[in-house]
Amino acid sequence: MANIIIENGYILTMDPAQDDIERGVVVIDNGIITQVAESTDETANTVIDAKGGVVMPGLVNTHTHAGMTIFRGYADDLTLSDWLENHIWPAEAQLTDNDLYIGTKLACLEMIRSGTTAFVDMYIHVDKVARAVEESGMRAALSYGMIDLGDETRAKSELKEGRRFVREWNGRADGRITTMYGPHAPHTCSRDFLGLVREYAFDDNVKIHIHVLETEDELNQMKEQFGMCSVNMLDELGFLDSDVIAAHCVWLSDGDIDILNERGVNVSHNPVSNMKLASGIAPVPKMLARGVNVSLGTDGCASNNNLNMFEEMKTAALLHKVDTSDPTVMPARQVLEMATINGAHAMGTNSGMLKVGCMADVIIVDMNKPHLTPIYDIPSHLVYSASGGDVRTTIVNGKILMDDYKVLSMDEQKVMKDANKAALNLVLRVNEQE
Ligand code: NI
Repeated sequence: MANIIIENGYILTMDPAQDDIERGVVVIDNGIITQVAESTDETANTVIDAKGGVVMPGLVNTHTHAGMTIFRGYADDLTLSDWLENHIWPAEAQLTDNDLYIGTKLACLEMIRSGTTAFVDMYIHVDKVARAVEESGMRAALSYGMIDLGDETRAKSELKEGRRFVREWNGRADGRITTMYGPHAPHTCSRDFLGLVREYAFDDNVKIHIHVLETEDELNQMKEQFGMCSVNMLDELGFLDSDVIAAHCVWLSDGDIDILNERGVNVSHNPVSNMKLASGIAPVPKMLARGVNVSLGTDGCASNNNLNMFEEMKTAALLHKVDTSDPTVMPARQVLEMATINGAHAMGTNSGMLKVGCMADVIIVDMNKPHLTPIYDIPSHLVYSASGGDVRTTIVNGKILMDDYKVLSMDEQKVMKDANKAALNLVLRVNEQE
């Protein structure tokens, strides 16, 4: 007997080798998908009626700072430097372990509700982040965000903490948590430091998560300091490899795209954050055309201001159409690939598809809604009409985290109450410092 059978759904496989199934079943056992078919002879402990909804792989958010949900709406409509230096950094200095625990819980709650089953995170107070992820039931690749600013003492202590976290948490929570190295960015980390991070990541056999060319300021700073851009500097260092997730990649030249492609670097595109902070427009259609693995991320909640991957998909599709004056770029199915299989590929997990043998990270999208009626094309609806609130059921690693809109893995009201309280106390502490 299997654990779960999902029946009576449109099966959007996202598997290049398997067409969608108009009315089908997905069978899950021991955290793994064991059958994707029109019908099954299997029986299961739990049978979920998808009620004609879309059964699909859970969305993968490849760039987050989950704990920053505590800053949702805290400082908006500012320049990046004003926003960071006068608002976010002073507030981050006041963050406690408990704030990060609660902020990450809130992030997981929001992601479970909006159909995200896995995410790639970089932040601070990482033990609390990991604890919150463990309890939430989600899948995540976590890293401690390291910045040395050319200071040798700081470099040492950052690497020590980064490595401690990498080794302590990798593979925990039934394998749902993996760890990565998280050097912040090429302009906030020294070249020597980045070289060491590269060695450490090879040694520990874990991946690297880094911001690359998010802003024009970074590009100018790198050119001034090294006479070359971040991508060239990283490449010269031997840093770029298929185990690197590079977030943003807004200010890329054609040559940079070739390098990222040759090295197999995974790019996380964050359109909403790039638009909100007026950072620029990443050349995503060009990257995809050359074969770069581009996935989607929301970035932290303070620059988005939510973790809703449906919104990210729609924004990505629209932004590049208007940018290239070409409505045929980034069609709906390609955007769905970015949010599912490409994200899973970046994380290195066997998921992102509904396929036998894949990890059972599955969501059901309720299509019985006015804004999703009538139905001509499912991918079109998912990208252009649906929203995170249409997700009815979320399953991670074969466990049901949300069943028919009810979150099972955490106490939703308590998480929101705790977050409100933590935010209030945080503001009081920041004001005291002023
Ligand atoms: Ni970021």
